[in-house]
Amino acid sequence: MHLHLRDGDMLRLVCADSAGPFAGAVIMPNLVPPVTSAEVLTAYRARILEAAGPHAAAFQPLMTLFFQHYTEAQLAAALPDLFAVKLYPHGVTTNSESGIHSISAADPTFRLMEEMGIPLLVHGETTGFVLDRETEFLSVYETLATRFPRLRIVMEHITTAAAVTLLDRFENLHATVTAHHLIITLDDVAGGMLQPHLFCKPIAKRPSDRDALLAAALAAHPKLMMGSDSAPHPREAKECCGCAAGVYSAPVLLPRLAQLFADHGALDHLQAFISGNACRIHGLNPPDKSITLVRESWTVPTRCGDGSGPTVVPWEAGSELEWRVKA
Ligand code: NCD
Ligand code: ZN
Repeated sequence: MHLHLRDGDMLRLVCADSAGPFAGAVIMPNLVPPVTSAEVLTAYRARILEAAGPHAAAFQPLMTLFFQHYTEAQLAAALPDLFAVKLYPHGVTTNSESGIHSISAADPTFRLMEEMGIPLLVHGETTGFVLDRETEFLSVYETLATRFPRLRIVMEHITTAAAVTLLDRFENLHATVTAHHLIITLDDVAGGMLQPHLFCKPIAKRPSDRDALLAAALAAHPKLMMGSDSAPHPREAKECCGCAAGVYSAPVLLPRLAQLFADHGALDHLQAFISGNACRIHGLNPPDKSITLVRESWTVPTRCGDGSGPTVVPWEAGSELEWRVKA
């Protein structure tokens, strides 16, 4: 429910890693320039399906607009291909320079979305101290959830125990969580040698936060959905000074989650966490697709790409996983 596919060569490189095993994905709009009109959204959707090739028949790109002040006519024009609108506060993450400066000034657009039944997906961070950014933003979610009770709000990629607690306080509040935030903490990113491929926004937090997220995921908390936030960057943009934020998790997502849920005796909740909760919450009806996960070890490649275009280092590069998606 949260996927970055990018565009051009990168889109062509990464698309099959998600369109192969998944029946659909929410496509994030933070391109440069961002996706802000019906025309751009529909054309981007077509490029995704083209890049998906043989997988296109059973892969539904759920398209999003980058939050701006939209008129009813602008939203209505996008509606046939539109799933949701994604709000980025200004400057909090990759390509969020066009994000909004004042959330309260956006009330008219929230009201329209509420009336038109368009979900609001939010990158919920302030620009405060990096470990406190999500917690500081929680009061904004409370305000939005209270003032727009019929607006379906999704707290994207939550990373704190406090955000899990907030889920149960407002009926119209939901959340996604990444696979990596169920597994890593800040120690894995920066506790030893710096690990640029685990650097993402929001940054991984404390063990107590990770444990709260994991408990909710393993229990298939009914308001929590898997959102991979798979966010590919070229290798040279990660392995450098000024490393870009984003973890490229798509190639290992299902095997790694199967391993995690199996380790905790929770495989019976894997389907709900990955897909069932999202389909119920959003009333989705993705194309029929079955995949088989088998307990069979494999080594994650250290690179994706054949050198003719971008090279991306996947999450868990070089490590051995216990599960694989059967071809
Ligand atoms: C994402 C990206 O690279 O587009 N990066 C990230 O660290 N998660 C943007 C985002 O989802 O914040
Ligand atoms: Zn993201």
